[in-house]
Amino acid sequence: MKGQGTIFRGAVLLASGIILAACSGISGGAKGQDVPETVPEFVFTYAENQAEDYPTTKGAYKFVELVRERTGGRIEILVYAEGELGDEQAVVEQLQYGGIDFVRASLSSLSEFVPELNVLQMPYLYKSSGHMWKVLEGEIGEEFMEILDGSGLTGLSWYDAGERNFYCTKKPIEKLEDVKGMRIRVQESELMAAMVEALGGTAVPMTYDKVYSALETGEIDGAENNWPSYESVRHYEVAPYYTVDGHMRVPEMQLMSQYTWEKLSAEDQEIILQCARESAIYERKLWVQRSEASERRVRNAGCTVVELSDKEKERFRDAMMPVYQKYCAGYMDVIERIVAAGEGE
Ligand code: GCU
Repeated sequence: MKGQGTIFRGAVLLASGIILAACSGISGGAKGQDVPETVPEFVFTYAENQAEDYPTTKGAYKFVELVRERTGGRIEILVYAEGELGDEQAVVEQLQYGGIDFVRASLSSLSEFVPELNVLQMPYLYKSSGHMWKVLEGEIGEEFMEILDGSGLTGLSWYDAGERNFYCTKKPIEKLEDVKGMRIRVQESELMAAMVEALGGTAVPMTYDKVYSALETGEIDGAENNWPSYESVRHYEVAPYYTVDGHMRVPEMQLMSQYTWEKLSAEDQEIILQCARESAIYERKLWVQRSEASERRVRNAGCTVVELSDKEKERFRDAMMPVYQKYCAGYMDVIERIVAAGEGE
């Protein structure tokens, strides 16, 4: 049944977007987004599950603006933020059928459709943000974009989502033993669940929009995410113990429905690709600023921030051995190339 409501909602939104856009001068479906005076040849939908002021959403608006500029308004894209078109996996399913045209999604959600993508988000894989970007912007990143071919999805660009850390409602995680028995929310991703289980916790898969109330009611004891998400969706109010362990860098992707992609001329495809990549550079700059601001905000709000000691980090990392064995067995050569790219970083 999953996704059926979304199919309907997506269809209604798409239809209303087209009608609105066709009536010149009327603003589109997404909040605060103006549709220009010209009648566009294409009106597309773009799903984003973060708030309007979040770096990835601002990246989406930048993308829309660039596409509008370079196509002279022939291609109009309506951004629906805050998960209005459904949760990430439901939206990705819609992209495969052409019900929604674009999404910015976390690799954890995408890996359930294209499991090879797990390789790029393995725990403790990257030494730094620079290391990850060297990989994504180089040959390996290109190879993984191509892996999407045939999945119904067209990869456009990589977006930043920093490093993920754990946070809890009642006490901080300071050592491996603290994770034991804790019910920790994970994205709907096998790899994420395996990571938490390997640390001794109980993984509770759940969509992003349900986490705040699950933390508040005690259904879960903790979750994990980057600074901006922790702050933006106010998880820090109900889970004030944040442990900086940096267990994963999970990049994100801007994707287009392959179905929609194939409707476009080669020139328009090139414009879309170029604009997506430029918007990604913009998003990365915003990401750095927002991460710092979010960290400051939650510290000022009185949250307890614990840095995991090097010794404990080593224990967390060692616990990941079975996870690598299970999810990277056929890809150890790629893992070696990724590790090699980090030398000197
Ligand atoms: C990040 C990511 C979202 C994702 C979320 C989650 O915030 O940007 O796309 O949904 O993590 O934990 O579910």
